[in-house]
Amino acid sequence: MYNFEFYNPTKLVFGKGSIAKLKELLPADAKIMVTYGGGSVKTNGVYEQVIEQLKGFDYIEFWGIEPNPKYETLIKAIEIGKKEKVTFLLAVGGGSVLDGTKFISAAIPYEGESWDLIKDNSKAVSTIPLASVMTLPATGSEMNNGAVISRLETEEKFAFFTPTSFPQFSILDPETTYSLPAFQVACGVIDTFVHTVEQYMTFPVEALLMDRWAEGILQTLKDISDTLMKEDKPDYETRSNYMLCATMALNGFIAMGVPQDWATHMIGHELTAFTGLTHGVTLAIVYPALLRVMKEEKMDKLLQYGARVWQITIGTPEERAEQTIMRTESFFNSLGIATHLSDYHVDRTVIDKIVERFKERKWKLGEKQNIDYHVVAKILDMAY
Ligand code: NZQ
Ligand code: ZN
Repeated sequence: MYNFEFYNPTKLVFGKGSIAKLKELLPADAKIMVTYGGGSVKTNGVYEQVIEQLKGFDYIEFWGIEPNPKYETLIKAIEIGKKEKVTFLLAVGGGSVLDGTKFISAAIPYEGESWDLIKDNSKAVSTIPLASVMTLPATGSEMNNGAVISRLETEEKFAFFTPTSFPQFSILDPETTYSLPAFQVACGVIDTFVHTVEQYMTFPVEALLMDRWAEGILQTLKDISDTLMKEDKPDYETRSNYMLCATMALNGFIAMGVPQDWATHMIGHELTAFTGLTHGVTLAIVYPALLRVMKEEKMDKLLQYGARVWQITIGTPEERAEQTIMRTESFFNSLGIATHLSDYHVDRTVIDKIVERFKERKWKLGEKQNIDYHVVAKILDMAY
């Protein structure tokens, strides 16, 4: 097992009716900015519950943080936040609202141009405290210090981290997910699944507990996915398990002492930047192709995962590995998500643009930092 440090200060407030705890969690003397997306919270009752709790607090609202939160939108919130001397941020919605809010929290105290912080995260030396009411289980943003910010003008999408961007608290009420369209649930399950394998499907380092925790998340997703996708009426326990899987997959717990990959995410972010494809869809496209290209490097863990999660135990290692990749891909398909770029009518020129970007940036990805632009080209060709 590798050496590691672990830190996670986010308080999770989980369960039915837990938005009613907001009042006691918010700082009484703060000037609060509440941030939202495009309005889903107004149709599913979340907004009413939040507003009820905000009675007596000094707050303003900012609406319109879109999926893959855009710098162009966020700078408007930053300007208002500076002018109104906001001292606390509350994000209400999905991962995009929360990610956007993490960026706002770092940019309000920053004097220079906000984009500097994305180019160089270490410039974000101060952040305004923030919290969330999370309505979409997927990103894990509710219990981590990461965000992903897009810029329309330059077709860019970058990760953004600061040591103090963890939400102070996150309220997770599984009932708020009942209004999610099946497509968003499918993308959320895939995002959670791929977060888990980014920290698991590398090479063995005798991190026995980490392996079992990661496999536990993968197995749980596998066990609940049919009910999750096919239920005519959402089931509270299924939603609760889904929500907790999403949080646990990217809050640092399964990252203790293990190597990490993240190449699928980095390639997926570029796909979104150039095509607008939803994050979970890009992962479903890239991951099976990445596994095929990196099969030899990942063989030991691939066989372990195949045996423990999909009970694939018969055949040569090569046969079992291929069966395991096929099973993973068909799992994504079973959620209603197609796994090839051509299924989404993406032009092949997008592959060239992405490969060119990796070449320019000289990025080397993966747990062994051996996924350069040549390998990215192979993966995207395979994914087409
Ligand atoms: O904008 P509204 O109207 O609220 O609608 C949203 C949006 O259209 C809707 N939605 C959210 N909760 C709902 C709901 N609709 C009905 N009922 C509900 N309860 O869903 C749509 C998608 O929302 P979004 O927030 O974009 O989805 P998600 O949570 O999947 O976030 C995606 C973003 O997170 C980034 C992705 O790259 C992408 O930009 N990621 C963030 C990470 C992190 N912070 O750690 C890690 C991830 O790997 C990921 O990259
Ligand atoms: Zn993700």
